[in-house]
Amino acid sequence: MPQSNPPSNSPSDSESHSRPTRTTVHRRQLLAGGLALSTALCSQRVGSAQTAPGPDRTAKPLTPAKRSVTWPVWDDSDATGLLDVLNSGHWGRLSGKRVAEFEQRWRETMQAKHCVATSSGTTALLTALGALNIGPGDEVILPPYTFVATFNVITHNYALPVFVDSDLESMQIDATKIAAAITDNTKLIVPVHIAGTPADLDTVGHVAREHNIPFIEDACQAPLAVWRGQPVGTHGLGGCLSFQASKNLTAGEGGAVLTNDEDFANRCYDFQTPGGGRAKASSGRGSNFRMTEFQGSILLTQLARLEAQAKQRDENARYLSELLAKIPGIKPAKLYDGCDRSAWHLYMFHYDPQAFGGRPRATFLKELREAGVSASPGYSPLNRSAHVLALVNNPHYLKIYGRDFMAGWAERNACPVNDQLCQQAVWFTQTVLLGTRDDMERIAASIDQIRTKA
Ligand SMILES: Cc1ncc(COP(=O)(O)O)c(C=O)c1O
Repeated sequence: MPQSNPPSNSPSDSESHSRPTRTTVHRRQLLAGGLALSTALCSQRVGSAQTAPGPDRTAKPLTPAKRSVTWPVWDDSDATGLLDVLNSGHWGRLSGKRVAEFEQRWRETMQAKHCVATSSGTTALLTALGALNIGPGDEVILPPYTFVATFNVITHNYALPVFVDSDLESMQIDATKIAAAITDNTKLIVPVHIAGTPADLDTVGHVAREHNIPFIEDACQAPLAVWRGQPVGTHGLGGCLSFQASKNLTAGEGGAVLTNDEDFANRCYDFQTPGGGRAKASSGRGSNFRMTEFQGSILLTQLARLEAQAKQRDENARYLSELLAKIPGIKPAKLYDGCDRSAWHLYMFHYDPQAFGGRPRATFLKELREAGVSASPGYSPLNRSAHVLALVNNPHYLKIYGRDFMAGWAERNACPVNDQLCQQAVWFTQTVLLGTRDDMERIAASIDQIRTKA
């Protein structure tokens, strides 16, 4: 049986251990079901290139509109890479080479000077906030139309989240409202590129420079999105990516911080690698947010198909927008002028029930599902959720900020435009955009049929 390395917490410790005694595992053994792992990981999945794994994927023909690609997509190259890591016995980044190789490839792909890989998008954001030593008393600006993790990383540091309302048309943060939310305590702005579509980075950058406040892009949904010729995630002090299971580039879990600032990169590395020792000064804080070599390996092989997928999503999304724009009551989310490419992690549009015979959005979604098109209503208002409002009575927040201040905080966070947006948005996931041009036509036709059926 393979033996594992003793646990190790510092780079020097791990490097001084001898390699583990090991039994080399070959693909053949896995395919033959020689190991328990093989059944779970590989028995149906390793083989020829696959886009829609699963035992019954050819059993019943799908209605045409249902033909979105099953996610994730992988082939033998992913399996070989994982087996190489397994057989190397170097499973952690401190002694392996895959994570470092991925960091290099990813920073080149995203045109950033530095990349620090992390265990998730959440820990990428925690790393960035930790490197900036964000803490109690600091205010951090974020949009309400985002995944809850953007909020959680702020409260994890006992800092104060300050919501800035959405721009109804683009569904992104309304960057023109950021300046009004800045106070003497504002330490950071976190614009989110929701759906993988760039927020208005011109205005965000302008406000940040004017107030001398850094911004960290939450680009968790936006790998390969481009703003004015430059990938997102590289426009502010730093940008955070997620490689979680649903994301356009995935290792199941994973993340990265991108930056062009060497000092910030070193502080990020130290923060997520206790004992890292790259930065000149430490804040005295840190955590283990390292990516594993298995994640690094699968990201390297997944990266090989990312550009082609991004191109396909972009072409399909733009075509779908053309078709949907012709249907009364449907309005695709606006892309700002500076958006050269969205990552299209989601395809978002506005739904107006009046044009659909007064059909509530939930009924429209149900009929769409019945027509074989899977769609969702998207986020509900984060700033008004029980999770966020719990902060008003959180004993730590009461101790740090006081009861009166926290009561006022809830009012200050009103986002009326976002409330409206949350009632009219509809989303498709990125896999829908990996279908064919015909699929886009069928989706548009299904929507129009529902409208005319009214
Ligand atoms: C906008 C946004 N921020 C942060 C995260 C957190 O990333 P992860 O799930 O990898 O921790 C996500 C993930 O869904 C996200 O969509």
